[in-house]
Amino acid sequence: MEAFIIIRKRVSLIGAGSMGGALVTGFVRNGLVAPDDVLLSDPNRDAVAALAAQLRVRIAGDNRQAAGEAEIVVCAVKPYQIKKVLEEIASLMTPDRLLISVAAGVSTSFLEANLPSGAPVIRAMPNIPALVGEGMTGLSLGKHAGPRDGDDAEQLFKAVGRVVTVPEANIDAVTGLSGSGPAFLAVILEALADGGVMMGLTRQTALELAVQTMLGTARVIQTSGEHPAALKDRVSSPGGTTIAGLHVLEEGGLRGLLMSAVAASAEKAAALEV
Ligand SMILES: NC(=O)c1ccc[n+]([C@@H]2O[C@H](COP(=O)([O-])OP(=O)(O)OC[C@H]3O[C@@H](n4cnc5c(N)ncnc54)[C@H](OP(=O)(O)O)[C@@H]3O)[C@@H](O)[C@H]2O)c1
Repeated sequence: MEAFIIIRKRVSLIGAGSMGGALVTGFVRNGLVAPDDVLLSDPNRDAVAALAAQLRVRIAGDNRQAAGEAEIVVCAVKPYQIKKVLEEIASLMTPDRLLISVAAGVSTSFLEANLPSGAPVIRAMPNIPALVGEGMTGLSLGKHAGPRDGDDAEQLFKAVGRVVTVPEANIDAVTGLSGSGPAFLAVILEALADGGVMMGLTRQTALELAVQTMLGTARVIQTSGEHPAALKDRVSSPGGTTIAGLHVLEEGGLRGLLMSAVAASAEKAAALEV
């Protein structure tokens, strides 16, 4: 397991829903930030109280308190809710306070335009496997975010998985691939299990086989660095079972479909309006 560098900074989370909750749980459980240094702000009082009790972190009275007491403000509200949050906290966002937004489709220039000039902002695109510490996050730095801000954001998101930093022109592609990818892979898993059921396996056994096969294959490629095509060739013996199945996938155009799915999701992200 990777050693985490403790961020000795006060971190506030505005919007403690499914993504915000997963992030702050990863930050605290991995000891990246001290519970006393974490403030949560969300209008769902019961949900936020339960999360705060679980993590032993504090609850802010409102978003202004959350922003005013933090060195890093993580904003995880829905994209259409972000403008209102920025209006509330703008006067508190001094250049020594970093804003990290995870809102899909909200650009760093939009964030900067709604904050005082010089405010450092970072746009992050995490994904739902952050819930189990296997997330994938793409980061893009705004024009006033320095290398230390980038390092802090990287350390935070490493608490819930892996991190890449990309130019903002590529962040919609990150959304299309790793942001939406869990849904695409869930459909593939379900379909593989359906195939197993069709051939006589119980649903439970079929799903266990499908999930472990996906996990194991991904892990082999991740740890060996082997090209996926080389792995495919290794398991396809001449005239064998696997090449017969691969022929069906090629005839059905699976590769083109998956490429188009990533492109459609990326294009939709690019067209999102706040
Ligand atoms: N879920 C994912 O897989 C994923 C992946 C990448 C990025 N994201 C991004 O993460 C963000 C959050 O998504 P989510 O799925 O976690 O949504 P969510 O579960 O609806 O969480 C958002 C939370 O923010 C609260 N909120 C609304 N207005 C607020 C305000 N003014 N101040 C403070 N809190 C406020 C919401 O309360 P109410 O319910 O009362 O509105 C809700 O509890 C989105 O921008 C999304 O694009 C999500």
